[in-house]
Amino acid sequence: KKVALIHAKFSRGQGKPGTELGPNYLKNKFLVSNLENLNHPAVDYADLEEDVPAHEEVHYNHNRNLLSTSRINQKLSKAVQNAISEGHVPVLLGGDHSLAIGSVHGTANAFSQIGLIWVDAHADMNTPLTSSSGNLHGQPLSFLLYELDKYLPKLEQFDWLRPCLSARNLVYIGLRDLDPEETILIEKYKIKAFSMSDVHRLGIHQVMKETFEHLTVNGELLPLHVSVDIDSLDPWYAPATGTPVLGGLSLPELMFIGNRVHETGKLRTLDLVEVNPLLKTSDSDVDKTVFSASRAILSFFGYKTLGTLIDGHQVP
Ligand code: ARG
Ligand code: MN
Ligand code: MN
Ligand code: MN
Repeated sequence: KKVALIHAKFSRGQGKPGTELGPNYLKNKFLVSNLENLNHPAVDYADLEEDVPAHEEVHYNHNRNLLSTSRINQKLSKAVQNAISEGHVPVLLGGDHSLAIGSVHGTANAFSQIGLIWVDAHADMNTPLTSSSGNLHGQPLSFLLYELDKYLPKLEQFDWLRPCLSARNLVYIGLRDLDPEETILIEKYKIKAFSMSDVHRLGIHQVMKETFEHLTVNGELLPLHVSVDIDSLDPWYAPATGTPVLGGLSLPELMFIGNRVHETGKLRTLDLVEVNPLLKTSDSDVDKTVFSASRAILSFFGYKTLGTLIDGHQVP
């Protein structure tokens, strides 16, 4: 299968300019040449950017940029559905995590049922009413889950959007910074969640085993959407991001997740979001983050975990 790169130059789901530059850094020669080698050649499929002049922007209470966030996500959802119907695997190069609204919506509408693996330090499950930041990148799952629909205020900017995923089919990996209401929702709806502490207790191998077991329905693993927030990684691996949290996944652990997902053959869409090249104390912060993000993406297409012997060679 080909990889359909969707460039989403968008940062209005949060307050810090810079994530709109993500796609230009993420689509590098290393990524493209290795995808080719792995037999998943990349095609530039769609180029999306914000299309609302700042002065026309609509806010709801303190929640910012409803109109631009809605519009880009509506286009993104269509791009994802089209790419899937043409037989590609869409890869969303973000952009901030509010883009998961359209990306997941697109995948969910291309299949009768999907499993969503959310790899993140954060749960991104605030509603416009519980969010203390007013940033939509902390809220995408409240727009997507059937169970949370009843907590949402009516927002006419998001008229096109219907919830499309059951909380039962969501698995979190890497959580370590939740807001109180998010913890309550995860417990109330018994959402499968592997915190960093669970990763340490079980090991990443067991976490993936249980993830796939959870997302298996009638003996078959569901088609998978994987949404990777680069801040799932420890800031040592990915410093250039807007909301870094200590104590995260190592790059080998994230690549292990990617490799296991690749082995299932069930990956249908991948998001890589929240790379912000402007948030650096030195250029090496950007290099590190882009290095990690590129390898993370490649791992989902079979690029082997760091620490493997020379690729393709075995000790005789
Ligand atoms: N929970 C916080 C909020 O609602 C932080 C969310 C961070 N999200 C992200 N995609 N990095 O604003
Ligand atoms: Mn996050
Ligand atoms: Mn996130
Ligand atoms: Mn493959």
